[in-house]
Amino acid sequence: MILEGKRLVITGVITKDSIAFHAASRALDEGASVVLTSFGRARRMTERAAARLPAEVDVLELDVNRVEDLDALTASLRDRWGGVDGVLHAIAFAPEDALGGRFMTAPAESAGAAFQTSAFSMKALAAAVAPLMSSGSSIVGLDFDASVAWPIYDWMGVAKAALESVARYLARDLGPSGIRVNLVSAGPLGTVAARGIPGFDSLASLWLQQAPLGWDVEDPGPVADTICFLLSDLSRAISGEIVHVDGGFHAIGAPAQP
Ligand SMILES: NC(=O)c1ccc[n+]([C@@H]2O[C@H](COP(=O)([O-])OP(=O)(O)OC[C@H]3O[C@@H](n4cnc5c(N)ncnc54)[C@H](O)[C@@H]3O)[C@@H](O)[C@H]2O)c1
Repeated sequence: MILEGKRLVITGVITKDSIAFHAASRALDEGASVVLTSFGRARRMTERAAARLPAEVDVLELDVNRVEDLDALTASLRDRWGGVDGVLHAIAFAPEDALGGRFMTAPAESAGAAFQTSAFSMKALAAAVAPLMSSGSSIVGLDFDASVAWPIYDWMGVAKAALESVARYLARDLGPSGIRVNLVSAGPLGTVAARGIPGFDSLASLWLQQAPLGWDVEDPGPVADTICFLLSDLSRAISGEIVHVDGGFHAIGAPAQP
């Protein structure tokens, strides 16, 4: 079992479709101890999803934008385990007026909100857990390829470009403590966050034409498996990396049969 004995903090479970739910499920199967985080009104949904995991897990309060919650998370994890071996950042949010083809009209506040919750938050979370991590620990985040511009993704795309950079700076600053920081760039998956983007289905349909391995929008399993690999010692010399789990889509410029 590749995660035997690992103490993992997994953010971002809101339903059983969440990528983080599948990551938590695989991690438990691979021998990890897991706590989830959630916040406010979403918490009851997270607890309902958690009940469907293969083992009992606790849900800790964390609005990643609240310093008080981050401080309480550090204290709670210290009491519970004394240390942490891995963290999954699976958090993203952009206001409605910053998505869905409204790039040119979105106000600065909405672009800023997308940046804070979807990119800066990875630094905030890392800073809260790094003091509890020893050499060999791992932080993983979730990306949507930000090397190009997409239809409808708008300021979330810009926030993902920032997240890619944040992950590299974290790899720089935490590497000397032996902490790895990597992203998984996932193909489109039918979660609450994704379906909230107007036009998601037409973006997702591009994968059916262009991914050389094909792509199942309803199967987060391949992404969850790669998250577990990056949380495990098997990835011990990998940091500052973006692993594309997208059926090979990113490597292909146009559909083979247009
Ligand atoms: N679904 C996709 O197509 C896809 C593709 C590539 C990357 N991703 C990324 O995967 C990650 C997880 O998203 P998902 O698709 O599983 O959707 P999801 O809706 O299941 O998860 C998003 C999570 O973000 C959490 N969140 C939002 N604001 C927060 C805050 N202030 N504090 C703490 N948590 C907060 C929500 O509670 C929710 O649990 C996101 O970073 C997303 O951008 C998704």
